[in-house]
Amino acid sequence: MIQDPLHRHLSKFLLLSAFSFFIGAIHGMLQVMPPIRAWLDSIGSPYGGPGHMIDPLAHAHMNLVGGVVLLAMGITFYLLPIFSGKKIYSVKLVGHTFWWISIGVYSFYIIQMVFGIWEGLLLPSNPQDIPAVHRFYGPIMAISGTIMAVGFCIYLANIILTMTMSPDNDTNQPVQD
Ligand code: HEM
Repeated sequence: MIQDPLHRHLSKFLLLSAFSFFIGAIHGMLQVMPPIRAWLDSIGSPYGGPGHMIDPLAHAHMNLVGGVVLLAMGITFYLLPIFSGKKIYSVKLVGHTFWWISIGVYSFYIIQMVFGIWEGLLLPSNPQDIPAVHRFYGPIMAISGTIMAVGFCIYLANIILTMTMSPDNDTNQPVQD
């Protein structure tokens, strides 16, 4: 069992990053299969239309934010105290970063996939119905994007506070839990 509270958070970053790479890889494998590729091309991927939401938007963000960004954040929180000699300012904010980014990127992925497939199915048969569906896309995406952005802001704030406000690792001064 991992005892250190910081390391407990960091293992969540690494585990979800690995899972996101798995989802991203399965997504990537599926989207190059000829019948799926042909359908995505027919609905606008990668340049516009509903296909753009599935490839590249859903695929890129699952791999880049879910996979790479979570990994990079976890590594940064691990390495920064070693390189700078300072304790992470707030372990609680590390947990916040994880949840805001994770909820943000997974909701982003689900929204892109749902609207991409829904509008993609309407495009050939009932294109006149697309605006009625698409009017929900903007507000829902704004919420999801904002959640992700809050995670990035908390991350940056914790890094800056660590560098400017945290005591050195070898002192006994308390830092926030
Ligand atoms: C708060 C965080 C983020 C939000 C809300 C967000 C949102 C978006 C949106 C709405 C687009 C579509 C733009 C369009 O349709 O032309 C986009 C494109 C893109 N984003 Fe993000 N993004 C975020 C973070 C990131 C990060 C951290 C990465 C990479 C590490 C990334 C990689 C990309 C890429 C590669 C594209 C272009 C896809 C294309 O070729 O059209 N995004 N993003």
